[in-house]
Amino acid sequence: MALIEIENLTVTFRAKGREVQAVQDVSLSVDERESYGLVGESGSGKSTILRAICGMAPVTGGTIRIGGQPVPTPRGRAFSTEVQMVFQDPYASLHPRHTIDRTLSEPLAIHGMPDRDARVVQALTDVGLPPAFRFRYPHQLSGGQRQRVAIARALMLRPKILLLDEPTSALDASVQAEVLNLLNRLRAEQGLTFLMVSHDLAVIDHMCDRIMVLQHGRTVEEITRDDLAGARMTTPYARSLFAASADRMLEGSERPAP
Ligand SMILES: Nc1ncnc2c1ncn2[C@@H]1O[C@H](COP(=O)(O)OP(=O)(O)O)[C@@H](O)[C@H]1O
Ligand SMILES: [Mg+2]
Repeated sequence: MALIEIENLTVTFRAKGREVQAVQDVSLSVDERESYGLVGESGSGKSTILRAICGMAPVTGGTIRIGGQPVPTPRGRAFSTEVQMVFQDPYASLHPRHTIDRTLSEPLAIHGMPDRDARVVQALTDVGLPPAFRFRYPHQLSGGQRQRVAIARALMLRPKILLLDEPTSALDASVQAEVLNLLNRLRAEQGLTFLMVSHDLAVIDHMCDRIMVLQHGRTVEEITRDDLAGARMTTPYARSLFAASADRMLEGSERPAP
């Protein structure tokens, strides 16, 4: 069964008498345990789709269903036990004056969950960080470690769905691969469903079963990972996006010997 169903979603921002159609008539469905990617250049509406699911964007048309039920407005507490979001910037997403322990305990406290100490230690272990990191502050962590904490926080309530908005694009290439592998492992272990945004088809190829290509807020084409690997895109736009990513991958593998 489809866990996430989006039908004819339209999002319209109104600012200073001007209207921006950030998302226009987009439909997609993501099965339980599937990993689905949204790609497209900057401004194509990728983040807006994730924000619309979380109730953080002005939806002016269409429907969003999770587990067959239309999402409630406001989203409320039950929604946050099912759906969590991880943002691009691990420096901005953690409170600088809260310890990691406080950051990870907070969702448990809000939802009145027991065994908070044990759950925090387990969450750190799950994302490959030593338990002693509880007592640190964000500024004492590297970018990759911070993003691991952000992922741990998103998983504290054991959600079914993670919405991932360019979760590794602020990290160095080697750290990026580690965090992507961590996400893949957690998806398998916890039976998670991913809806993931990236402007980088190499990342999407590593992570996603199916992919939607967006341009100017509209669907250009939906393809499978096999289509991507075989360069079987049907539209010139999707092909040009892929060609740009393929060039970058080549550059990465062709560093001159020292
Ligand atoms: N809060 C906002 N107010 C007005 N326009 C916005 C807002 N957020 C996004 N937009 C516009 O919506 C479009 C899609 O943005 P976004 O979803 O952030 O793109 P992407 O994540 O693909 O880079 C862009 O034209 C952007 O300028
Ligand atoms: Mg974005």
